[in-house]
Amino acid sequence: MIRNDGFDGRRFPKVRLRRLRRTASIRELFQETRLSVRDLVSPLFVSERLKQPTELESLPGIFCQSAEGLVQYVEDLYGLGIKAFIIFGIPSKKDIIGNSASRPDGIVQKSVDLLRKQFSDSIVIISDVCLCQYTTHGHCGILENGVVSNDKSLEILSKIAVSHAQAGVDFVAPSAMMDGQVSSIRKALDTSGLNHVGIIGYSAKFSSVLYSPFRDIADSSPHAGDRKSYQMPITNSEEAMQEIFLDIEEGADAIMIKPALSCLDLIYRARQSTLVPVCAFSVSGEYAMLRAAAIEGFIDENEAIPEFITSIKRAGADIIITYHAKKMAELLQG
Ligand code: PBG
Ligand code: ZN
Repeated sequence: MIRNDGFDGRRFPKVRLRRLRRTASIRELFQETRLSVRDLVSPLFVSERLKQPTELESLPGIFCQSAEGLVQYVEDLYGLGIKAFIIFGIPSKKDIIGNSASRPDGIVQKSVDLLRKQFSDSIVIISDVCLCQYTTHGHCGILENGVVSNDKSLEILSKIAVSHAQAGVDFVAPSAMMDGQVSSIRKALDTSGLNHVGIIGYSAKFSSVLYSPFRDIADSSPHAGDRKSYQMPITNSEEAMQEIFLDIEEGADAIMIKPALSCLDLIYRARQSTLVPVCAFSVSGEYAMLRAAAIEGFIDENEAIPEFITSIKRAGADIIITYHAKKMAELLQG
């Protein structure tokens, strides 16, 4: 090993790295990456169609709530030290332009209002801003002649973001992957007197099969076509960096990369080459794969969960959105 400060491991055959690993106390002293519950953001699903908390079939162990039930659910997570949440709404009605996404009495707006009243500023609320759960066709934007129209979608996404901000979110997180969505939302928030509300860009969001459990729950798969004309191809890292730099230029307060485990290289690169907070989203499929293996008894999830989350942090993520947040918080409490 030759470092640029001249250290040459070959000239020091007596250096034994195992000395640093001999006892648990020594290992703890020299531990480089330390997980904290404060790194974690828990997803929240809230449905207009539900009265009772319902366990999600494609995400065993995760529950979808009614707006009213959400407060108790968040109370429980808060008790474990989780103080940041990203909220996903499931509306009872869909239409071709996703009208219910920006209604002041929509499912997300109602839930955010209840949470804010209960928890004031002691929690951080982020909202996912997209159209796919709210449109009959299941695309993340507005269709024009069967094609997702970038600029028509920007207007509607901005309207949704403003309505979430008015309901009381701290951050909106646009996930539609439309070009210019961050600047368009920034402008809309500022002209609506909401310049205190921040934007976490889903900057490098890859087209991935790992979102399928989510789409199952949200009933948000596109009915025709796929999302490949707006979500990123998994093959391209230079393009991902362009997406990240563009979001920062457009005014994103933090950037996001997803999925997490298949994009550790980009998390690392974003952390090294930007100054903004880097958020990693460990998506529904990452949770489901591990959960399924654990249920089958192939893998001990109490060991696998900290291993995975630590790897995401070691790669450079400042904030980690994970469906394992609750379990991880319990493990951290010991
Ligand atoms: C909405 C959205 C999706 C996810 C976050 N926001 C689904 C998608 O793009 O298909 C995925 C989250 C997950 O899988 O956990 N566009
Ligand atoms: Zn979407």
